[in-house]
Parts: sequence; C-alpha cells; structure tokens
Amino acid sequence: MPTVFVPKEIVPDETRVAAVPETIKKLVKEGFEVTVEKGAGAGAFIADSEFESAGAKLGADVAALFGASDVVLKVHPPRQNEALGRHEADMMKEGSLLVSFLFPFNNREAVEKLAARKVTAFAMDQIPRITRAQSMDALTSQANIAGYKAVLMGADALGKILPMMMTAAGTIPPARVVIMGAGVAGLQAIATAKRLGAVVEVSDIRAAVKEQVQSLGGKFIEVEGAEDMETEGGYAKEATPEFLKKQREVVRQHVVAADMVITTALVPGKPAPKLISADMVKEMRTGSVIVDLAADQGGNCELSEPGKVVTKEGVTIVARTNVASLVPVHSSDMYAKNLLVVMKHLTKEGQIHLDFEDEITAGSVVIHQGEIRKEAVAEFLKSGGKS
Ligand code: NAI
Repeated sequence: MPTVFVPKEIVPDETRVAAVPETIKKLVKEGFEVTVEKGAGAGAFIADSEFESAGAKLGADVAALFGASDVVLKVHPPRQNEALGRHEADMMKEGSLLVSFLFPFNNREAVEKLAARKVTAFAMDQIPRITRAQSMDALTSQANIAGYKAVLMGADALGKILPMMMTAAGTIPPARVVIMGAGVAGLQAIATAKRLGAVVEVSDIRAAVKEQVQSLGGKFIEVEGAEDMETEGGYAKEATPEFLKKQREVVRQHVVAADMVITTALVPGKPAPKLISADMVKEMRTGSVIVDLAADQGGNCELSEPGKVVTKEGVTIVARTNVASLVPVHSSDMYAKNLLVVMKHLTKEGQIHLDFEDEITAGSVVIHQGEIRKEAVAEFLKSGGKS
C-alpha cells in the first residue's frame, strides 16, 4: 500500500494545504495510506480531527515522514525548512514521487536536490492545457480564485461603490473597471466586476479572447496587430516593444478614466510585461486603484511593489503576491481536487504507474527517478542560468 505524506506548507503566510478531508477519503479508497502533518490544515480552517475522520493518520515528525513516504503531496516546490535546518527535497525518500507546483526555471536548487534524491517530480505547473487535463489544471483553479479576489481587493481599496445607484440622495454612476489580460484570472475578474455592477473594459493582445470578453459583458479594447499574438498552445507571444508602445497609447485613455485597473497579463517564461507606466499612474484619478495580479512575476505596473499595497501619485497600487492563498478554503479545496485527479491518473491497481506514452504524464513529469526528462529544464540547469 503506497504511503502518502501531506506536510504543512512552510512558505511564510501560505494558508493552503494539498489535501482536504474529501480528497483524503478518496485517496484512502484508492488504496493509499495517508499521513497529514499536524496543523497542516489550520490555515484553511481544517481541523486535524477532520483529516482523521476522513481516514488520515496524523504525524508530527516531518523529517521521518518525508523520509518514509512513497508520495509527497504539496502546494509549493520543496524549500529549506528553517525550523529543521534541512531542505524538504533532501528529506524525501530516495525514488519517491513528489506532486506539487515546481516552476523548474525559478527553482533550480529544488530541482537539483530532487534529482540528487532520485525523486520523480510531477509538476502541477507543467500540465498540458488540453481538454482531458482540465480537471488537473491547478494553474487554472488558482487563477480563477485570484481573479475573483482581485476585484474584491480593488473594491475594498476604492473609496467608491461599484454599481450604479439611484437614490433619493442622488444618482451614483457605475464604477469603471479596466482589466488587462483576459486569461483565466482576467475572465473571472470580468465576471466578478460585472456582478458587482461595474462597467468593464478589457485589453488583451490575443484577439481570440474578444468573444469571451463580450460574452461576459465586457467591452473589448481593440489594438491593431493583436491578431497574430497567440501561440499554438493558446498563450500570448512576447509582444515587441513597438506593439507594447502602441498598446499603451490605446489603453492609456481607458486607464486614466478608470476607477479600478486590474492587470493579469503574463507571457509564459518571461517577466510580466510592463503595461502601466509611471506616467500613466500620474495621469490617473486620485483615489483610483490598481490591482496588479502579475506581482508574482514582477508586476504589470512600473510602480508596483510586489507583496505590498502602496499609494503613489494618489493611486493605491495593490500588488499582493500569492493571491489564491487569501481564499484558503476554496483554493485548497480546488487544488486538492486537482491533485486527486492527478493521483488517480498515476495509479494502476493500487500502485504508482507512470505511462510516458500519455501526453499528460510525459508533459508534467520533470524528473523521473533522478533523470531530468524535460529538455528545456536540462538545458537550463546545464547553462547555469539563474533561477
Ligand atoms: P497567462 O496567465 O499566461 O496570461 C494571462 C493573459 O495575459 C493572457 O490572456 C495573455 O494573452 C495576456 N497578455 C499577455 N501579454 C499581454 C499584454 N501585453 N497586454 C494584455 N494582455 C496580455 O494565461 P492563462 O490565464 O494561464 O491562460 C491563457 C490561455 O490558455 C487561456 O485563455 C486559454 O486559451 C488557455 N487555457 C486552456 C486550458 C485548457 O484547454 N485546458 C486551460 C487554461 C487555459
């Protein structure tokens, strides 16, 4: 019976956990023996007793549990556990399986240590964006939550209400919200801002999203040349400086008239494009708000300070990082369900079974028993490139 360990996340302020009672029950039913670190669910309001009732054991000796388990389920890539003075990857059992976010190009040390331990690492961030893998797609589940929360954070920082209100004390016009980037987070932000009654305008460099934006009630801001900005995988290509300049000119008039700007623009593997210059912030109305959801990748606004909420030029700039963890119950719930589907995908007759003929497994397993399986990652490690 394969053993599974779910440790408490050690990234500061992380509230999520990689399993919830419902997924524990199903893992146990699949034939796994699951141990959860005591207190692992506290940030997501899950008591140890709930994990126990679902069929998990509880454990506190983290090093021993890492060292004895066939599978480790986590949210964040392994990192140094300061309390124990040991790296999580170093504590893993040789030849065991890790299923977590890995972002290999940002986590060289973790990848090298996992490889040295001959671990097999299934990276939740590498799952192909294909229909069959949708129920495993944790980037989507977490971006959905972040998109929703972005609007609430923005509304909270704004000294205005969002909906139009006709009252005896006068008529209040609806707030104007501009959303830049209509991927998963951006589309959820459009839907949330619309529900709260705002007028929503949207910019994206993939012209293909125009219809999705409109079907959610948003107005699409057209920028000439956006027709060819999509890769085969459905992501954005890196825009040229000329295109970004043109885009800034078109978007500027919408941004300076907005009450709230939410930016979610990302290009895979690249720093976030700078879409809101310091000049644009200067022109914005005093009291308006920018929520920069790209803060984890450096931010879309030149004046953002990742991890912080600052006021510059009279504009509040909310650049919180790790936004999904601000909604720990549902982000844990969805992430844990994504992991459960992955675990089922990797299991045959109660045992871990990796089929590299399968597109999802082949696409997501970065390290197999110590061997780096993804060429780009191997190149990156060899090149000595910084993570
Ligand atoms: P992302 O987080 O990489 O990027 C967010 C958005 O920023 C994208 O819409 C991108 O076009 C936009 N962007 C990039 N540069 C920009 C700029 N200069 N100005 C304005 N916007 C800019 O993307 P995300 O949210 O992870 O998903 C991207 C797409 O992947 C989806 O819209 C969809 O087509 C596809 N997808 C497919 C799935 C599936 O089939 N299973 C699941 C999830 C996404």
